Amino acid sequence: MITKVLMVCLGNICRSPLAEGILKSKVNPKKVFVDSAGTAGYHVGNKPDPRSIAVAKHNNIDISQQSCRKFSTADFKDFDLIYVMDNSNYNNVISLAKSDEDIKKVKLLLSETKLETKEVPDPYYDADEGFTTVFNLINNACDHIAKKLI
Ligand code: 4NP
Repeated sequence: MITKVLMVCLGNICRSPLAEGILKSKVNPKKVFVDSAGTAGYHVGNKPDPRSIAVAKHNNIDISQQSCRKFSTADFKDFDLIYVMDNSNYNNVISLAKSDEDIKKVKLLLSETKLETKEVPDPYYDADEGFTTVFNLINNACDHIAKKLI
């Protein structure tokens, strides 16, 4: 049985592409399928933000071939786990849920960590350092998720 994990943020160009790439780098692709999406459609079809591509590359992860897509209600059926980056993403995703079963699939990514902060901040309007912070937060969570899924 393959576990399907969806990473979700607002734009699907900064945080969730990193989360997709980082988790993929830690799991067996035959056992875990990972994808990402955004709740907004501003950047559909675009590659990740160059700053996310750069911080991933710096950590030997290639996310440059990813393409932005919008979250859809079909994703509740297609995925077992839906990880969101912040409370706003959580509310946006939950507003599209059709059942309690759908709602149960949605979790804050950092709820998997022992960190006090439970939200991955939106780095879009930040300097490059923001992307390093985001990378480290997501990496911490993905370590825990990968261990659970093995
Ligand atoms: P993300 O960041 O949700 O981590 O992909 C953002 C990317 C784009 C925008 C906002 C946040 N935007 O407003 O275009």
